[in-house]
Amino acid sequence: MTKSKILPLKEVQSRLEKLRHSSSQNEAKALMSDLLATVDYHNIQYHEKDKSEISDLEFDQLHKNLEELEELYPQIKKGRSATATVGGKALAQFKKVAHRVPMLSLSNTYSPDEIRDFDTRAKKYLDLKEGRELIYLCEPKIDGLAIEVIYEKGILTRGLTRGDGLTGEDVTENIKTIKVIPHKLKTSRPPPLLEVRGEIVLFKKDFAALNQEQIDEGEDLFVNARNTAAGSIRQLDPQIAASRPLKAFFYGSGIVDWANSNATPENHCEFEKLLGDFGLPVNDLAKKCKNIDEVIEYYFGLEKKREKLDYEIDGIVVKVDSLKLQKDLGFIARSPRWAVAAKYKPQQVQTVIEKIEIQVGRTGALTPVAVMTPIKVGGVTVTNATLHNQDEIDRKDTRVGDTVVIQRAGDVIPEIVSVVSEKRPKNSKAFKIPGTCPVCGSKAVKLEGEAVTRCTNSLCVARLKESLKHFVSRRAMNIEKLGDKLIEQLVDLGVAKSFSDIYRLNEQKISQLPRQGDKSTNNLIESIEKSKESTLNRFIFAMGIRFVGEQTARLLAKNFSNVERFLEATEEELLNVDEVGEKVAKSIIESTGNKTFSKEMLALVKLGVHIPGEKQVGGQRKQNNSLEGFTFVITGSLDGMSRDEAKDFIENHGGITSSSVSKKTNFLVCGSDAGSKLIKAQELGVKIISLDELKRMSNK
Ligand code: IVH
Repeated sequence: MTKSKILPLKEVQSRLEKLRHSSSQNEAKALMSDLLATVDYHNIQYHEKDKSEISDLEFDQLHKNLEELEELYPQIKKGRSATATVGGKALAQFKKVAHRVPMLSLSNTYSPDEIRDFDTRAKKYLDLKEGRELIYLCEPKIDGLAIEVIYEKGILTRGLTRGDGLTGEDVTENIKTIKVIPHKLKTSRPPPLLEVRGEIVLFKKDFAALNQEQIDEGEDLFVNARNTAAGSIRQLDPQIAASRPLKAFFYGSGIVDWANSNATPENHCEFEKLLGDFGLPVNDLAKKCKNIDEVIEYYFGLEKKREKLDYEIDGIVVKVDSLKLQKDLGFIARSPRWAVAAKYKPQQVQTVIEKIEIQVGRTGALTPVAVMTPIKVGGVTVTNATLHNQDEIDRKDTRVGDTVVIQRAGDVIPEIVSVVSEKRPKNSKAFKIPGTCPVCGSKAVKLEGEAVTRCTNSLCVARLKESLKHFVSRRAMNIEKLGDKLIEQLVDLGVAKSFSDIYRLNEQKISQLPRQGDKSTNNLIESIEKSKESTLNRFIFAMGIRFVGEQTARLLAKNFSNVERFLEATEEELLNVDEVGEKVAKSIIESTGNKTFSKEMLALVKLGVHIPGEKQVGGQRKQNNSLEGFTFVITGSLDGMSRDEAKDFIENHGGITSSSVSKKTNFLVCGSDAGSKLIKAQELGVKIISLDELKRMSNK
């Protein structure tokens, strides 16, 4: 089975046209799968990367075609209907569901004075006696995606987005893939109905790791953690959400029926404590404050910690703690009188773009980078910000000399938010990425359907430098002492023209480098020697094949146990590897089919890069081959073994593990609290086994 493709609208239309005239189940299935992947892809571009490769009109047409296909072939519809819309953009299949209690918003305040006004208003409304204080619960205002999760008799039955506040989208399957959200509440006496509300987030470090993967694979970066979290929940395919380490915090409720439970909370603090007891993630920075002075202290105290938190926040939420008083205070228009958001000043500053440089990456991508007058934002001095590509430059109309508003998105990456058009100097010109590579002068082209302009010269010096930096990096060949500076010098001197030249370095060659003493020369030679003992997955990853990140390299290494076999792999064989689709297979063939590339890999082996014949898995020795030829997926929590241990166990017995269930999966190893993978396995007729059964199989 091949992976789904991203299709141009024209192809969708012509394939659909054929299906209108002659019916073919197989072709309809293939088109359905491709179309869903195409809609997912454009949703990611739109929601997570803040850019669209196609117009709204084209997206709508894709969508209409999907609807028509569903109508023509209802039997292959996969329980999806293609109607809902969010934020102006159609989102194919999500069902719309009304919230039983509307999900309202908070009014915002921006200063201590405004927070005090809120306190005064609430006291006045409640007619409190002079000198009586309101007790507040303060907590971070999480910058994520608001959701509602419904538990009936303790079982998760539905997950909804906020939508327009009255009606949300049914994203249950995606919510179920989030590990921190329990499918079953941890209590023997669950409330008959519990509607909890909270925020889905992607932690800063997970966002950074996701973007690092994008860089490794030569792909575009995600814009920020919030968009990425939101976008992940709004995909048709739950496997996308499952592949992202999303987290959640719960802080509110819709309808709750406390009948049957041990305790009915009287204040918000107790309510959140109960949620925690049920196994739902709640924020541990929530604090009870005796009066508004303490609230203001909390507001400033948390602002100091803001940078260091694991997740993004944009302020605090102040809530009257007593649930009875909350009820008395009620709502005004669309926000509660009992709560208010106290926002932090956005960490944004203005500076000037002094020039726009073009950087050339290892895939040849020409990336425009704004070099700005250095400025501090959120405690860090920023000078450079990527402008991504020509489409992004055009969208914001960024020019040299422009004053721009910048902010630090996600963890550290600075981002240009907008151009201050009033401050634009006269005679400024729109910026165009050149049609030639600024480093080697070769032609640079922007392929149709791609956002990126690329240098076409595979021997370009800039590409070589970046490829070498990747080759020696920690997760690739791990040549510790060969830093970026040294690589640039080696290339500039003409000593390193290829990967294998690194293993041809000797004392004499190294001594040509400036400031290179005996000790550092020895250290460098030692670290190059050390790197020769490697693994096939690191070696494949190091070669920098487009779309082959660490995970893909690992799968390839398992399937083609040595360099020769890998180089000989046909497209068909590659497509048989789990998680390798057509795009990746084609890219691999393009590399391995290239004589220079294959010669280089073999030369490296000759020069001593040593890949042990044994597959190296989890740092342990392989025990036997009893699971060879089988692909396993693990789901749920296993009794007495972590997932990583189970993975190692399978691999140490010659089996292959994969993170998603497909037709190629032979067994699903299933523990308790299994979610969507179990359903998918049942749908596909994949054999489901327990950990004990797995152990028994491995003893044979
Ligand atoms: S309580 C009636 N608590 O902020 C609304 N909201 O601007 C009560 N938010 O829609 C909401 N962190 O999506 C509450 N600790 C927190 C929050 C929080 C983030 C979001 C929520 C809400 C929006 C209002």
